[in-house]
Amino acid sequence: MRDFSNCTALVTGGASGIGRCLALALAREGADIALADLDAGGLERVRAEVESVGRRASTHCLDVTDREAVHALAEVVRPRVLVNCAGIAIMALAENTSPEQWDRILAVNLRAPINVCAEFLPSLKERGGHIINVASVDGLLALGGSSAYATTKFGLVGYSEAIGIELSGHGIGVTAVCPWFTWTPMVDSISIQGYERGKLDRLLRAAKPVLFTTPEKLAAATIKAVKRNKPLLAHTFLAKFMYLVKRLSPRLFRDLFGKPICRLMKIMSE
Ligand code: NAI
Repeated sequence: MRDFSNCTALVTGGASGIGRCLALALAREGADIALADLDAGGLERVRAEVESVGRRASTHCLDVTDREAVHALAEVVRPRVLVNCAGIAIMALAENTSPEQWDRILAVNLRAPINVCAEFLPSLKERGGHIINVASVDGLLALGGSSAYATTKFGLVGYSEAIGIELSGHGIGVTAVCPWFTWTPMVDSISIQGYERGKLDRLLRAAKPVLFTTPEKLAAATIKAVKRNKPLLAHTFLAKFMYLVKRLSPRLFRDLFGKPICRLMKIMSE
């Protein structure tokens, strides 16, 4: 999809971080924006930002795992661009992840975007459009220490690849966006069991200039990828490089990156 002018884009998770920046980038391209999120205050702030770009915005305060609420939304919003961005993260070894944490992250990060796509497919098929599923670099390569998160994001990448093929004859493009670490409010929600929050904060802030990209850069790269109808976007260079290493030699990838990072997580959790 090359032209977003005067269409509607629905962005789940649009009240914060990557979703907010994607909503603003799409608004600058000429789209009206429907924002769906749990965070009522954040929704209103982003609505004002979208309107200041000169586009219309509507806000929909809902939990993406609530199927009735998503069904009701599909009756009033008819987007040509659908962005599944709402998500949560859990940093924990598999053995330290509770069944409740597994259920919640699978529901929010995987089951919900699948359901959102299903609900909006009929209207997308009418006029064609594009689905952007925000997965993660953890959906391309698992580093250890975030097994539940990686499981959901691998699932979302696989789902996106499959529906991308199924929908190609219907004028609907599908892009799985796989960002590297991105500096958003999600960073503040990260905790590692057994590791002091203050220490983690200092570590993350020290790593920020080297390891993190910004949601603005990611949003710009995403718009470019959608215009080119790319099925997959790995962002940044480091994400592309590590993914290449993994494809060339899964064992080298595991020994060079996976094991050391997992060891670090284990030390931090002790
Ligand atoms: P964020 O925490 O800034 O934004 C996430 C938004 O999703 C929040 O506004 C939150 O209220 C909303 N949300 C969460 N659960 C929801 C639910 N059940 N129903 C409705 N809304 C819900 O986080 P960020 O960083 O912008 O993350 C956005 C997406 O990008 C997520 O899917 C995340 O997994 C993915 N991602 C983030 C990376 C990062 O380093 N920040 C890296 C790779 C992927």
